Amino acid sequence: MMNSSPRPPEPAPGDVAIRAAGLVKHFGELAAVDGITFDLAPGRIYGLLGPNGSGKTTLIRLLTGMTRATGGHAEVLGVRMPDRANLARIGYMTQGDGVYPALTVGENAEFFAAAYGVADRGAVQAALALVELADRRTALAGTLSGGQRRRLSLACALVHRPPVLFLDEPTVGVDPLLRVQFWGHFRSLVDAGATIVVSSHVMDEADRCDELLFIRAGRVIARGSGDGLRAEAGTPDLETAFLHFAGEREVAA
Ligand SMILES: Nc1ncnc2c1ncn2[C@@H]1O[C@H](COP(=O)(O)OP(=O)(O)O)[C@@H](O)[C@H]1O
Ligand SMILES: [Mg+2]
Repeated sequence: MMNSSPRPPEPAPGDVAIRAAGLVKHFGELAAVDGITFDLAPGRIYGLLGPNGSGKTTLIRLLTGMTRATGGHAEVLGVRMPDRANLARIGYMTQGDGVYPALTVGENAEFFAAAYGVADRGAVQAALALVELADRRTALAGTLSGGQRRRLSLACALVHRPPVLFLDEPTVGVDPLLRVQFWGHFRSLVDAGATIVVSSHVMDEADRCDELLFIRAGRVIARGSGDGLRAEAGTPDLETAFLHFAGEREVAA
């Protein structure tokens, strides 16, 4: 679909799409994000990989400006977050389904389009077509299967064609065929110029990302390509590579 492709990313200082600068988020005593700094160049898929509770969702919420940092700051396309206007350039698929069960498929997508100020009626149809839900437009979201709800969730995150996308565990509970389709969508969006951050607590899709950031206890413990991290750790798989980097940090601490 020609008109479902994202707008090309606007240039950011130093060609940085997403910046984390000393990000810290405390919940009481707990440092859910414990000093994360990185620059992510545009036009790539980045995988945030780490076990449950390692801080992936909190990091994404900081980067999108959904929660305020205890320390440090985040920038998206050169704009310091939180910034309401900048949300027009950001898509965010939350963990779990952020869709309204009492609204139809079409109404859900229209709600998000309206929230983002998208006037173009074709945008809703294009987003639904991309996830192959155009023929379910009048179905109540509450009657969809789990996989269909994930697809609707993705359509809602894409409806305003954002150049930067955050997808929090988008393929959890999604069947293998749909997973392949999702990754196909992600790759075509990036080929069209978008920047995607996708989180996961499993390593099995990691090699579909251009670059990986291993997250543990609120920190980035390693960054690189799948092959690069395996080589650096001297391990055949990413699970063992993760343990290698996690152990090294403890020795160094
Ligand atoms: N609103 C909150 N209040 C208190 N603790 C929280 C809150 N959100 C997350 N946490 C805690 O912060 C840590 C990181 O959580 P989260 O970012 O959801 O990790 P992940 O997405 O990697 O599973 C966990 O220990 C979690 O219990
Ligand atoms: Mg999470």
